[in-house]
Amino acid sequence: MIAGIPPNLEYRRGVLRILDQTRLPWEETHVEARDAEAVAAAIGRLAVRGAPAIGIAAGYGLCVALADLLARDPEAGLTAAREALADARARLGAARPTAVNLPAALTRLERAESAFCRTAAKATAGDLLDRLEAEAAALHRDERQVCEDIAAAGLSLLPEAATLVTHCNAGPLATGGIGTALGVILRGHERGRRFTVYAGETRPLLQGARLTAWELGKAGVPVRLMPDGAGPGLILAGKVDAVIVGADRVAANGDTANKLGTLPLALAAARAGTPFYVAAPWTSFDPSAPDGAAVPIEERGAEEVTHLAGRATAAPGAAVYNPAFDVTPGDLVTAFLTERGVLRPPYAFGRDAECDPA
Ligand code: MRU
Repeated sequence: MIAGIPPNLEYRRGVLRILDQTRLPWEETHVEARDAEAVAAAIGRLAVRGAPAIGIAAGYGLCVALADLLARDPEAGLTAAREALADARARLGAARPTAVNLPAALTRLERAESAFCRTAAKATAGDLLDRLEAEAAALHRDERQVCEDIAAAGLSLLPEAATLVTHCNAGPLATGGIGTALGVILRGHERGRRFTVYAGETRPLLQGARLTAWELGKAGVPVRLMPDGAGPGLILAGKVDAVIVGADRVAANGDTANKLGTLPLALAAARAGTPFYVAAPWTSFDPSAPDGAAVPIEERGAEEVTHLAGRATAAPGAAVYNPAFDVTPGDLVTAFLTERGVLRPPYAFGRDAECDPA
């Protein structure tokens, strides 16, 4: 996809090979997950991360769970298979709470399972595994295409040359394809657009410093890494043409949960009159959440803040508040860039959203 960036997820029967993003960019190591617990653990500790990638991993996680059952009990019938899948759905669904792509993927495979079991009365658990593997692969393919469509939507709005700010990592590592926010930038660069990117380092786990700077660097996109606190000032100084970020969950009114540190960029962009774009697949939209208050925000362990690369960096015993995401009010979002096109306010995703053609 980008020379030098390995695939984040590779499935073969019974094994999900996960590129361990916690070790990047220094080490390319993999986790070979052979049961749902191992996939859930990899999602929980951010070995695989980024909303679309989490959803794809969860889809394959169900396949791994059923293959695991069949390896332990080759005679297992459909009832046992469906029990194992229900258990795996519960484990995977609890791995991280904010990205709605995770439950969306589990629901997609559950629907495929139910439809298959309704119509194929004499099917075996092995047949069901074939069906679920096909559905998980289709989800992966769909997410790849969605990235291309998002890139087209984004490029329809951006000028030939632009200075852009992004946050966290919404590139190939976070998705099933070229990325969402970074997909726009990467495809634009490939087509001769002159983009310069300021990437926030993304405290505390440094997805911007480790992953975004790595991906953009490999693709030859000019990128400057900055401390997260530098972004709002840069925007207010008029040095930025647009902010472009991803999303973990978009509520019906456009309120957007994304990596902590997104909100200050949106506030500064609104004050400066700078476009603030959210690039996200439809699988990140949750019309059942009326607004941002209904989005569960993950709180992660204190050691992510008190330690850096295993070394203590905080006063011993300091109490910690470590939300992984913040919520940007929908009225600060200039437009959503989706596979359905460019969506502009007023946002009301509970109903069928209006789209500008990309
Ligand atoms: O905690 P992370 O690294 O999974 O957070 C990722 C983000 O916030 C991304 O911006 C979002 O998932 C979109 S990825 C295309």
